[in-house]
Amino acid sequence: MIPIVAIDGPSGSGKGTIAKLLALDLGWNYLDSGLIYRCYAYLLKNKIINIKKEISSIKHEFDALNEKIIYKDKDITIDIRSAEISMLSSEISQQQHIRDDLFEIQKAYLKEPGLVAEGRDMSSRLFPDSKVQIFLTASLEERLNRRLNQLRNHGQKVNISKLKDELTIRDQRDSERKVSPLTKTANSIMVDNTNETVEDTLSIIKKIINERY
Ligand code: DC
Repeated sequence: MIPIVAIDGPSGSGKGTIAKLLALDLGWNYLDSGLIYRCYAYLLKNKIINIKKEISSIKHEFDALNEKIIYKDKDITIDIRSAEISMLSSEISQQQHIRDDLFEIQKAYLKEPGLVAEGRDMSSRLFPDSKVQIFLTASLEERLNRRLNQLRNHGQKVNISKLKDELTIRDQRDSERKVSPLTKTANSIMVDNTNETVEDTLSIIKKIINERY
């Protein structure tokens, strides 16, 4: 059995940062499932046909601090992380047929020596047998701050009250939709990292991994 760490949580909970650092540290594969939904939304917005096939030609390069998303030699990182694509990806993710289309694409990340997968339904739908299931969360204020910094680091101008509304709407929709909503599974361990540094959060999760594997 290939080991899996599934991390679910709302936007700005830090799951992206934590999952990426864990994967780099363990030398395991990394699935940013939100990115798959974002790519779908980006291709849809740009009226690209055969989206399912085109998604596999989008490349994700990353290290601990930076990332680059490339489509047909074009750097689309800023578009993919924009507020517009955040909203559109959340909207389209409510549709069952789109979730079904993206299921196998996500499953294909499960390869030796292991996988760190983050998103909304990693524990509940994609990898329900994973021994480590984490529900990562933080207060709305802290998540808003993180999102703000993330967008500013991408050189984007941000309207704080608009961002707060967008984050609230997106969280509500992602948690209340009928198909595969964000939910804490019975096996998930809740980690609230409102007052934790990235390093502290990492060591809490590494301890859980060591206990379970
Ligand atoms: O994690 P993120 O903010 O990049 O995700 C963007 C959107 O994609 C999110 O608002 C809902 C959707 N999503 C999903 O429905 N299921 C996942 N496993 C990951 C993301």
